[in-house]
Amino acid sequence: MPNVLDTVDPRTVQREAFLRDVLAGLAKPRKTLPSRWLYDDAGCELFEQITQLAEYYPTRTEISILREHVDEMSSFCGPGAVVLEYGAGAAIKTQILLAALRTPGAYVPIDIAGAFLLTTAERLRRRFPQLLVWPVTADFTAAFEIPRGVPQQRRVVFFPGSTIGNLDAAEAQQFLRQARRHAGKGGAALIGFDLRKSLEVLLPAYDDALGVTAAFDLNLLARINRELGGNFDLDGFRHEARWNESESAVEMHLVSLRTQRARIDEQRFAFAAGETIHTESSRKYELADFGVIAAHAGWRMTRQWQDEQGHFAVVGLEVN
Ligand code: AVJ
Repeated sequence: MPNVLDTVDPRTVQREAFLRDVLAGLAKPRKTLPSRWLYDDAGCELFEQITQLAEYYPTRTEISILREHVDEMSSFCGPGAVVLEYGAGAAIKTQILLAALRTPGAYVPIDIAGAFLLTTAERLRRRFPQLLVWPVTADFTAAFEIPRGVPQQRRVVFFPGSTIGNLDAAEAQQFLRQARRHAGKGGAALIGFDLRKSLEVLLPAYDDALGVTAAFDLNLLARINRELGGNFDLDGFRHEARWNESESAVEMHLVSLRTQRARIDEQRFAFAAGETIHTESSRKYELADFGVIAAHAGWRMTRQWQDEQGHFAVVGLEVN
């Protein structure tokens, strides 16, 4: 039986969700937009460039931690592990882990971007011909199920990249609970997150000299213009990275350089000079605090690996 919903283009659904979030976020007294909308094709491309910047330490630091300690991580995972990765992306870090695992049972990459996910799945099948690769298209911030056919061996959730830093406290809690449910009895997790450190290191990582992060942030306004027919003047805003102590987060803001107005879908939004749109938060954890958060979600933090400077951590969690 054909269903009316089958005929709705997913891009239309996306556009409507984007429009809803933009209209709601800009109507708030403190204007804010959900950071997920930064990551369209242009945004993902710019983020890739960010990961190569001298100032942006997280990606290369995490990769070096994985390389250095992957044998211990492999023992932690045990033989025959089924790896579940949330927000798999290009899965560079995954390949380091998978190459070190003893007879992994399966690799289940979970991502909202279906086409990108299938390309990644293909690449991993070529590199690991013995491995069962089972991609799942889903938004990991919402509730979803792991397909029944995925082998029932020890499950290990892999969540690198400090993606958890983009989630607020409630979302992180919800994420860790769902991950625990998916891991099941006897399950484990390897999670990478950024640690608190000097602002002299933190702020330039989110406001680089080449202006790549600024372009990444401003792309959000360009995307509103492109996809929602907005009329933002990109020269009327500048990028700023700020430290929010009570949230323990670096925030990205777009600062209005003057009094101005912008129109989206017949709605008008006024900006005072200096007023900002908050576009992303990147939380920096203290190791012990992360252990407490994980414990609330039913996990025990039993292992941790860091770089020499203590900039970044990968932790091993086990189901209670
Ligand atoms: C993709 C969330 C890990 O918070 O460091 C980098 C995003 N934004 N520079 C981060 C980001 C600006 C990044 N994460």
